[in-house]
This record gives sequence, C-alpha cells and structure tokens, in this order.
Amino acid sequence: MKILVTGSNGMLGSDLVQELLAQSYEVCGLGKSRNRHSRISYVQADITNRQSVLESVSRLKPAIVIHTAAFTDVDGCEQDSNRAFSVNTEGTKHVVEASNACGAPLFLISTDYVFDGEKKGLYRENDTPKPISVYGRSKYEAEEFLKSHCRSGWIIRSSWLYGENGKNFFRTILQTATKTRKLRVVNDQRGAPTYTKDLAKGLRMLVEKSNRISGCRVYHLANTGTTTWFDAARKVVSQAGWPVEVEAISSQDLKRPAKRPMNCAFDMSKIKTDFNIELRSWEEAFADYWTESLEKESHVLIASKPSAQAEGKKG
Ligand SMILES: NC(=O)c1ccc[n+]([C@@H]2O[C@H](COP(=O)([O-])OP(=O)(O)OC[C@H]3O[C@@H](n4cnc5c(N)ncnc54)[C@H](OP(=O)(O)O)[C@@H]3O)[C@@H](O)[C@H]2O)c1
Repeated sequence: MKILVTGSNGMLGSDLVQELLAQSYEVCGLGKSRNRHSRISYVQADITNRQSVLESVSRLKPAIVIHTAAFTDVDGCEQDSNRAFSVNTEGTKHVVEASNACGAPLFLISTDYVFDGEKKGLYRENDTPKPISVYGRSKYEAEEFLKSHCRSGWIIRSSWLYGENGKNFFRTILQTATKTRKLRVVNDQRGAPTYTKDLAKGLRMLVEKSNRISGCRVYHLANTGTTTWFDAARKVVSQAGWPVEVEAISSQDLKRPAKRPMNCAFDMSKIKTDFNIELRSWEEAFADYWTESLEKESHVLIASKPSAQAEGKKG
C-alpha cells in the first residue's frame, strides 16, 4: 500500500516515513525543500499552490494521505498570519481536494492548540474548539474544511511534539542550559510532551485499520500523563546532571507574541476504545529520547563549549 506523507522532511514526518518503511509500506513524500530520505519517492511542492498539489498527488497516486505539513512556529504564525492561514488552512484545503480526487482517505494531523485551555478536566474530541492564537485558528479552520469537504478524512490531534529531527522544547532547554546557571521556565501550562517516534507508531497502527476509514472522525493521540514545561525542563537538567537552577515563572512573565492554552490535557479513551491504541507514558518516552538522542548531544555541547556545567559535573 502506498502512503503519502506531506511534510515528510519535518520532525513528525521524518519519523513517520521511517516507521512506515520499517513496516514495508511503499512511502512517498511531499515537502517544500529537498528530500531528506532515501527509499521514498518524493515531490517538492508548496502546498499553498493548489495546482502543484493536485498535479503532484495525482502523479503519486497514494492509497492513503497523512498530512503533517504545516507552518508550526506558533509565535511566527502570530506575526505572519497571512502565511499561517495560507499554509495551514489553504494548504490543507488543497490536500483535501487532491485526496478526494484520487480517492485516498486523509489523516490530518492537528493540535491541542485548537482549544482555549480553560477547561478544568481533560479535553475530549467533542469539546468545542476555541483557539486563542493564529496558529490554533489556522489549524481549526483546516479541521472544519476537512469535516465539510473530505469524503473520507480523519483528524488526529496531538500535543507538545518533540523528536530527533526538529527544533523542540527539550533540545532548546539542553542547549540553553550549557550557557547559564539559571533557566526561567513557565509553570502554568499543562500538557503531554509527545515523542514523534511514538506518535508515528500510533498513526501507523491506525492506518492498519484503514479498511475501517470512512466519513470524518476526530481522535486525540499523545503520550499519556501530563506535566508542565517547568517540570519537563527540570527533567532535562537532572538527566544532564548539570548544576543549573530552574526557576518557575508564569506565562505572563514570558512575553511571547502568541497566547498558549493553559490546559492541553487530552482524554484519549476514544482511540483506545475504537482501536486499542494507547501510547506509553511521556516519562518512558522521554527516557528513550534521552538515551537515543539528547545524551549524545549533551556530551557534544559540553565538549564544544567548556563551561560552568562541565566544571560542575567534574566536581
Ligand atoms: N510541533 C508540535 O508541538 C505540534 C503539536 C501538535 C500538533 N502538531 C502538528 O503536527 C504536524 C507536524 O508537526 P512538526 O512539529 O513535525 O512540524 P515541522 O517539523 O515544523 O515540519 C513541518 C513540515 O511541513 C513542511 N511545510 C511547511 N510549509 C510547507 C509548504 N508551504 N509546502 C509544503 N510543505 C511545507 C515543511 O517542509 P520542508 O521541511 O520540506 O520545508 C516541514 O518539513 C503539524 O501539522 C503540526 O501542526 C505539532
């Protein structure tokens, strides 16, 4: 079965390509820059260009499309809303149209940022989205278009992604922690850091139930358990063993262009009930990410920049 991954060069897209190849699927990719994978067919296309997307997808003839391509810089979206809506909303419309044209079911990867974060409990799939940022609105409008226009399209919302192939919170904390003895990290946003390798595996399992894909459905899928950015940062520092203090601050202290939802915690019982899919805890996933990627990166960082942290570790 041939599966098209849009955004195949991205953080999730890269792990998804590897997960699908490992299970012997025929994989093709679509992205804006040059292909970064071997063993896949690839088209370089800008999803904001309708004609280009229609032609590319009809040439590739996928049986299933997994749409991960997006403008994901949340503050960048706030500062350039034209680009955010053009890529995330209009781009998705083109992918929906192209998937309909070749009869391929579509999985749209969406986000916890479609919610305002005001709910006290866990967000269920049927809670009403109320995005508070341009990024969240642009993704929500993409969801709404898919619901009304896609013959067979499912929306999979995930949260707080990190992985080997992209800029992410844990990596940023590690890099910043080599340069300072004190980090200030927000302690009032709660969510589930999700390892893109785990999400890729969950998506592949969902694809395997593809004989049951019809109509439109929404699912929440992330690593289980929740934390705050502050506690997640403390985990990185403690794994590195560096003498860095992590200070808790509020979102208001950190003046960023885009507002973030305070609560991003998902109820994921629907995907468990329907498909018996449940990702492991975020702590277990992070432990693997540490040994698979960050530990080595921490050694390189220390070696390339003799610092107070290196001194601290010796002592
Ligand atoms: N990051 C998170 O915390 C998070 C949380 C929840 C949901 N999500 C969703 O999960 C998905 C994957 O996120 P990610 O963090 O893995 O994304 P990412 O690393 O930023 O990758 C996004 C990919 O989209 C491609 N892309 C961007 N603009 C494009 C355009 N105009 N035309 C064609 N391709 C374009 C890029 O392609 P090139 O590299 O080829 O330029 C890039 O590889 C996104 O849909 C995002 O909304 C992300």
